[in-house]
Amino acid sequence: MLTKIIAHRGSKGIRPENTLPAFEKAIEEGADGIETDVHMSKDGHLIIMHDETVDRTTSGTGRIYDKTLMELKQLDAGSYFGYEYLGTRIPTLNEVVQLLIKKKFTGLFNLELKTDKIQYPGIEEKVSAYMNQQKVSFQIVYSSFHPQSLVKMHALNPSIEYASLFKVQTKFARKFYRSRIVKDWHPDIRWVRAHRFFLPHVQLRPWTVNSSEDMRYCFKRHFDGIITDYPGRAGIIRQAIQG
Ligand code: G3P
Ligand code: MG
Repeated sequence: MLTKIIAHRGSKGIRPENTLPAFEKAIEEGADGIETDVHMSKDGHLIIMHDETVDRTTSGTGRIYDKTLMELKQLDAGSYFGYEYLGTRIPTLNEVVQLLIKKKFTGLFNLELKTDKIQYPGIEEKVSAYMNQQKVSFQIVYSSFHPQSLVKMHALNPSIEYASLFKVQTKFARKFYRSRIVKDWHPDIRWVRAHRFFLPHVQLRPWTVNSSEDMRYCFKRHFDGIITDYPGRAGIIRQAIQG
């Protein structure tokens, strides 16, 4: 089986992250999966962005949770990356999912609930209710740095796949990572390389695998997937190693 190449926040290396152009590019580059991050606006809309605040990637300032969808839609989320992306807007979860449906995407859709810093009230119920209404041909994997969010999601959708995210400093034996809920591990690649620990029954998909060396490391070991900012480049390296 080929190691899946999962586009981190879309093709983040060459498009403004977590925007429709980044997701379109990932599909164009043949990514097997798409990873993205979801938050909630003041008026309860599901918003696609990495940070809790809009400061780094948009023309605005302040927390997503303090703004309405209309306020968020006025911001420019493209020009921080390049002038040619001026006018790119922050997408909602619905806009991203509808794009994937339109493009007939059949890969893996990894939705990360960004609930480790702000526990948005009811976000798990909203995401579940929304996703369950959609007729999709892609495989959904929910992940979070906040274990409680996965517990809530699992209670609502026991048959969906869940991934634990962990950072480089995460202690090796944390009980949750062996729980029944979590089938996949999405660790920092530096964690993987430091521990050199793999369980055969766990699907390992490290992030963010951007250097050729890290890509080769994962492809040689036939990990289930890698999460990368450069799906196009990863495809060339995978071809050389796995055929
Ligand atoms: O889901 C993998 C990766 O996205 C986790 O880290 O900070 O890029 O969301 P971050
Ligand atoms: Mg993420």
